[in-house]
Amino acid sequence: MKIALIGFGVVGQGLLEILRDKAADLKTQYGFEAQVVAVATRSKGTLYNPAGLDIPALLAAADDFSGYPDSAGLTRGTDILDLIKTCNADVMVECSHTNLQTGQPALDYCYAALDSGKHVVLANKGPVAVGYNELVARAAQAGKQLRFEATVMAGTPSIRLALQALAGCKITEARGILNGTTNYILTQMEGGMSYAEALAQAQQLGYAEADPAGDVEGWDAAGKVIILARALFNSSITFKDMDVKGITAITADDVKAAAQAGEKWKLVARVTADGGSVQPMRVKLSNPLAAVSGATNAITYTTDLLGDVTLVGSGAGRLQTGFGLLSDLLDIYAR
Ligand code: HSE
Repeated sequence: MKIALIGFGVVGQGLLEILRDKAADLKTQYGFEAQVVAVATRSKGTLYNPAGLDIPALLAAADDFSGYPDSAGLTRGTDILDLIKTCNADVMVECSHTNLQTGQPALDYCYAALDSGKHVVLANKGPVAVGYNELVARAAQAGKQLRFEATVMAGTPSIRLALQALAGCKITEARGILNGTTNYILTQMEGGMSYAEALAQAQQLGYAEADPAGDVEGWDAAGKVIILARALFNSSITFKDMDVKGITAITADDVKAAAQAGEKWKLVARVTADGGSVQPMRVKLSNPLAAVSGATNAITYTTDLLGDVTLVGSGAGRLQTGFGLLSDLLDIYAR
């Protein structure tokens, strides 16, 4: 499978580390061999070699593409849209910075990839939240796959559980903790750390978005609510239709007061066919969400045939999100 990687930050590097370290296992167990033919970023430029780029050399040059060695067939500095349209990749993997307002420029990259006959796999939430219907339509027209497991709960299979494993059940509600950064901050504050220090740690650990305001103000979780609303309920809900509040107003005293009452603060997201919300709330220690700590996330699907089905797992991080991309690539490969 030939891959064009758009965006080469924490998540893109995570995917390439996994492809490097698991190459032998992936080949033996699944017959899966990945070749990265193109890497494109707006800040560092592009690298393209139709015969394949060297993954360890890419990782070594992640901060500065001039450190990537010249070799036969290598092209640098191609316009990103041109590269997407003309490269020989089978799949475009989109993991550039999320813009939840416009989805751009990634949305145009996705259209270009689908229109030129490439599957699209995203960790970037913006294009899915903003352009879901158009993306699905173009993927259908092209006869290609559109996959976005990594956009909700990183590699924890929240989308696959709902769309594939629970197919045949009617899901009436999804609710849970969908942002790793804020759950990490709240957990650290319970241990006495300041909000600012906990946020700085979440950034260092690669949990936070490039602009962490979207995490702490609830918009990242709201973007995931919109993705779930589109994928599960075919709903056209937008940010304007939702009550969204983050954790910026929660003080150390609030956290202490909750603890004294045997409760914890959690940023809880909820989505139904009729709407969605993201709200901080105090939950009792007996509530299963109280045990979900750090960058771990949880989602409960309420279904007609099984009742509640809950999935708990990593919600953010380098290898965790990189795995989400890999799981989609393997699924496309298996079809
Ligand atoms: N910033 C996001 C989070 C990354 O903290 O959950 C995963 O989508």
